[in-house]
This record gives sequence, structure tokens and C-alpha cells, in this order.
Amino acid sequence: MSKTIAGFSKLSKSKKIDWLADTYFANAENAKTVLKQYWNDNETLQQLHDEFIENTISNYYLPLGVAPNFSINNRLYTIPMAIEESSVVAAASKAAKFWLERGGFKTTVISTTKIGQVHFMFHGNSETLKAFFENVKPKLITEAKPLTKNMESRGGGILDIELRNKTADIDGYYQLHASFETLDAMGANFINSCLEQFAKTFKNEALQYVDFSEAEKQIDIVMSILSNYVPECLVRAEVSCKVEELSENKNISGEAFANKFVQAVKIAEIEPYRAVTHNKGIMNGIDAVVLATGNDFRAVEAGVHAYASRNGKYSSLSHAKIENGIFTFWMEIPLALGTVGGLTGLHPLVKLALELLHKPSAKELMQIVAVAGLAQNFAALRSLTTTGIQQGHMKMHLMNILNQFEATSEEKIKLTKHFEKNPVSHSAVVEAIETLRN
Ligand code: MEV
Repeated sequence: MSKTIAGFSKLSKSKKIDWLADTYFANAENAKTVLKQYWNDNETLQQLHDEFIENTISNYYLPLGVAPNFSINNRLYTIPMAIEESSVVAAASKAAKFWLERGGFKTTVISTTKIGQVHFMFHGNSETLKAFFENVKPKLITEAKPLTKNMESRGGGILDIELRNKTADIDGYYQLHASFETLDAMGANFINSCLEQFAKTFKNEALQYVDFSEAEKQIDIVMSILSNYVPECLVRAEVSCKVEELSENKNISGEAFANKFVQAVKIAEIEPYRAVTHNKGIMNGIDAVVLATGNDFRAVEAGVHAYASRNGKYSSLSHAKIENGIFTFWMEIPLALGTVGGLTGLHPLVKLALELLHKPSAKELMQIVAVAGLAQNFAALRSLTTTGIQQGHMKMHLMNILNQFEATSEEKIKLTKHFEKNPVSHSAVVEAIETLRN
């Protein structure tokens, strides 16, 4: 029976597991075995993972795969991907190889500005507030110096602070809307610390501002937090080739393929039901690299989908065109990433992933991640508009079904061979297993 518990976080890991196993599981011993079999024998490594979060009871594994043969601005990359979905790494690898033979991926970082806001309430004269803001703005920056000194010495820091009047939306609501350059750091801690300092300075200075009435001096800070919406932290990835070079086999000409592909993208541009799935395919590539490189995939997801609806309607992130016989497929996408700080210096697999990527700067990582997204989108659209998605998906899913039936290595070899020539479906695999076993 479920029950509440006080002081759970203070219990040792073993005691936490005992309580969970006894409270929630019919077979307590089995639950403990499952949790403990994912512990790492290397105690230092295990302790590192235990301390990433509170109440760690085990490790949750995801496969780390790699997709080789990516040419990005004429440099070769093997891209690490942490993901559970069976077809994603295979699709990325295929797209990489396809474009390797057609000039590779071209990328540019358009901008790297990040945003944070202090949200506050002020019920007074907005002109006096504006004058106060102009007066206090230099002090907001100087009082944050202890926080910004290091970042500034490397060329980053606070770019600007604006006062924004949002009273048309909420009575008395204003913002300090600040922009930052955080270089190779994702910058969440840096930005949030600066914002909290701005809030403190702003509130304190208001108390002493002679042109404010007594009521106006009481500025009410609601919260200070970075924004994960980063439309000015933007990267572009692109592939292009002659239309006739798109054809790989006799079944479909380059021209027919290009036309169909462009149609598929146009549908995702105007139809939100399709756009969400289309963009989900892009995020298959993006999230996998973001995760493998220790970045915050929730932040990236939130920012990317907000960007996809920036014109008031959810739409495709990628675009395609045929012009003068040239097929071009591209995407501009907001990505706030870091290659220093956070998990990047802590998690051994993240460090390995970054080294595999030639130890990229944040700007370089933005380009690599965007390419992984575009490649994934290309692979999905290519399958969807030619063979259909299930052919490739079910081939990759075969191993999952075999594992569900606890197939032995010998059975796996035989059945994989069998399904090289036969269409994979759940029932076909079950039937083949049964035939083999009888
Ligand atoms: C599946 O994870 C992703 C796709 O649905 C993407 C798409 O439809 O473009 C195949």
C-alpha cells in the first residue's frame, strides 16, 4: 500500500530502495535486484551519478550510438547520439553518407544572443519609471561586475538591458529585458545570477529615488529568470545539389524525388498536424546529440517549438526549394548550447562525446546539432516520400521484438537473415520465432 514518508532524502540509498521496494512492489527482492543491477561497480563513477540529482536510486541507461561520415563545412565528423528509438542513428548515418557524396552540409551561426528577464510590478507613473531606469541602468551593470568580470575578460557579458512596458497585457507589469553573450557556456547560471543582481539593485535604488512617490518606491519583483526562447541564438544548416544528382536508383528520377520532397516540406509548412511530426523527426536528431553532449534538451525543445510558431501558427522548421535545377534543403533553428560548464566537464561520456567532435566551441556545436536535425529530417522525408517509413522502421525494430521474446544469439542470427528477404511485422516475427522453435 502507498504511504507518505518524511525525511526520505535523508535516508541512505539502500534505505530508500528498501522503502520503495517494500511499499510499491509485489516482489520487493526483484525490484531491488533490478535497481541494483544498473549500479556501476566503479564506486567513484557511481557516486558522481548519485550526486547529479537528489534521491538517486539507480542509473537509467540509454544507448550511445554514433553516426559517421558527416561532412560539415568540409570537415569530417562522427556524431555521437544518445537515443532509444531504433531507427534514428541508422537514418542519420544514411543521410550523412548520401550528402557526403554530394558536397556535404554547409552551416553558419547567425547570432548567439541569449535573453533573461526581471519581471516586476510598478503601479505609478511610467514616465518617472523610465527616467529612473535610465538613471539606474549603469549601476545595474556595475553592481553585477563581480559576476560578469570573468565572462567579460573572455569577450562575453551583458549586451544590453531594456525597460519594457507590458501594462497593456497585465496592469502594472514591466520587465527588465536583458541580452547576454555567454560564449562557450550555455549560460543559465550566469544569466540567472546577473538577473537576480539586477533585481536587487533595481529594488534598492528605487527606495532612494527622489522623484518616486512613497508608493512608487515599492517596486515589487515577481521573478528573475532567463528565457529559453532564443530566436537570436540562431544557426543555419543547408544541403544542396543538382536535382539529377538526387537519384540513387532507377525507381525514381532525381526530378521526381525533388518535387515530391519539396511538396512534403510545403505540407509541413502549412499544416500544423504534419508540422509537429515533421519537427519531431528533426528533434530526433537534435535531442540525441544535445543529450550525448550533456546539454539541456528540455530547454532546446521548448525554444525550438516556440520558434516554430513564431509567426502565429506552428510550422515546419525546415524548408526546401528547386531553383535553376538546384535542390536546396535548409533549416534555421535556435539552439542555446554549451561546451563548458554544467555536465560537460563532469560526465565521462559527455567529455568523450565532445572530444569525438573535435572539442567544439558552443558555436561549432550549434552547427553540428543543427546538421544532425536536418539529416534526420532528410532521411525521414526521403523514406516517407519513397518506400514509406515502415520498411526501415520495422527492420530496426526487429531486434526489439526478438528481445521481447528472449531470442538467443543463434535465433537472432537466423531470424535477421530470414527478414532480410521478408517484410517485418510484429505477427510475422512472432510466427517466424514459433516456427523456428518448433
Ligand atoms: C519518427 O520518430 C519520426 C517521423 O515520424 C518523422 C516524420 O514523419 O517526418 C518519421
